[in-house]
Amino acid sequence: MAFAVTREHNEFLYQQVINLVRQMREQGTLQPGEKLPSLRSLAAKLSVSVPTVKQGYEELERLGEIEARPKSGYYLALQLKPAAAPRRAKLASKAIAVKKQSLIEQVYDAIHTPGVVPLGIANPVAAYSSEKMLARTMRRVMSQAGQSAINYGPMDGFAPLKRQLALRYLDMGLTIDPADLVITNGAQEALAIALQCVAGPGDIIAVESPCYFGILELIESLGMMAFEIPLCPDDGVWLDDLEQVFKTQKIAAGIFSTAISNPLGCNMPEQNRRALVELMEHYQVPLIEDDVYSDLYFSEHRAIPAQAYSRKRTVITCSSFSKTCAPGYRVGWMIAPRYIEQAKRIKRALSCSSSLINQWTLSEFIASGDYDRNMKQLRRTLLLHRDRMMAIVKQSFPQNTRISCPQGGGVLWIELPPDGDATLLFHQALTHKISIAPGAIFSPSNKYARCFRISYGLAWSEQVEQSIKKLGELAQQQYT
Ligand SMILES: Cc1ncc(COP(=O)(O)O)c(C=O)c1O
Repeated sequence: MAFAVTREHNEFLYQQVINLVRQMREQGTLQPGEKLPSLRSLAAKLSVSVPTVKQGYEELERLGEIEARPKSGYYLALQLKPAAAPRRAKLASKAIAVKKQSLIEQVYDAIHTPGVVPLGIANPVAAYSSEKMLARTMRRVMSQAGQSAINYGPMDGFAPLKRQLALRYLDMGLTIDPADLVITNGAQEALAIALQCVAGPGDIIAVESPCYFGILELIESLGMMAFEIPLCPDDGVWLDDLEQVFKTQKIAAGIFSTAISNPLGCNMPEQNRRALVELMEHYQVPLIEDDVYSDLYFSEHRAIPAQAYSRKRTVITCSSFSKTCAPGYRVGWMIAPRYIEQAKRIKRALSCSSSLINQWTLSEFIASGDYDRNMKQLRRTLLLHRDRMMAIVKQSFPQNTRISCPQGGGVLWIELPPDGDATLLFHQALTHKISIAPGAIFSPSNKYARCFRISYGLAWSEQVEQSIKKLGELAQQQYT
């Protein structure tokens, strides 16, 4: 067995045990139905403890990949049927006005109803909270800086935080001038400012399909139109479709997740990201890259932002700390080299500045190394939760349900078989105190009536498992 457990690895030790079993299955060393090595023998071979191997085996059992037989041991499951990925949508024929506010409002109400299991909200931080570390940092900032930490801050942001962000980009191989960066109230404000820098009412914005509903709501409230470009479950936005649209339509800007998308969780490969920038710069269409999930990757490395490939400075990068440590701090940022003066003017008019104490705390949090330490644990936990949730969905939902396999982030996208109704499921689930995000809010043209999004970015519990099973049961009832 050419496999060693390494303690420097990004994964928990027991996850490496899981990987080993999967590797043995893939290489045929272990055949379906065959007995796995005993806990003791594998522990001795890998120089890890018996409880570590047991934890790995128990997780595999929970995922349905192995079976425990009383007084006998663990056996490789007989068959593993991979769930199909959701299908790619067809390219739209025209831009459309967005009218989604009423259902979005109901989804928000559901999420914030006390006692509801919040599967409908994308709040990955809840899987591994940084609350205690952040609270300590904030107390330190307050005791050192006093009143100055709760004053109005500079309009474009707290300089040390801007420098920290520029340094992080430098680590990714991207040189950012802090003067091109504005701190905002979350990524949502960054996206709103970016849109207003490059487009006006009536203009058409190319969006990915399915698209995060906050972007659709923004387009609606700014009186713009949306043109949906299908996402491919593996590679992100479909570039051939995008080019076809550029040839026939006047598109004012495109907003795309250049790495990990919400709700599909696809991770655009580097060559596609580069090609996307080249294509958009060729057709002189500004790219607004939504980069909020990029730090929550499950691959070896974080994606390099599309900003790095821009030659004409027409890429605007929008991101935040909402998905990585503190959504309630409402601290985000935008990098807008060509549009920086407009961006600052709009920021000043909209909200003057962002919370100084929160920016100060985050800047110290990054400088101390706590941010990166926390992120490492958060990514590991999210990956674990992803596999658990996918396994329960596979076991509980009707046959032929399609499930995304997210490459990062904290949400699953599920497509019910033909004739399924995810908006009905949303209303039914609420009567059982479970919130989900129905597919209808992810498309202005109601493309995803059979789909819905659920979040594995939460504190895992028996109640969460039961809620997913209940959703499966409700979905089954639609076909009886
Ligand atoms: C894809 C995407 N972009 C932007 C945002 C907005 O982020 P923030 O909370 O920082 O405003 C979200 C939040 O859910 C999101 O999922």
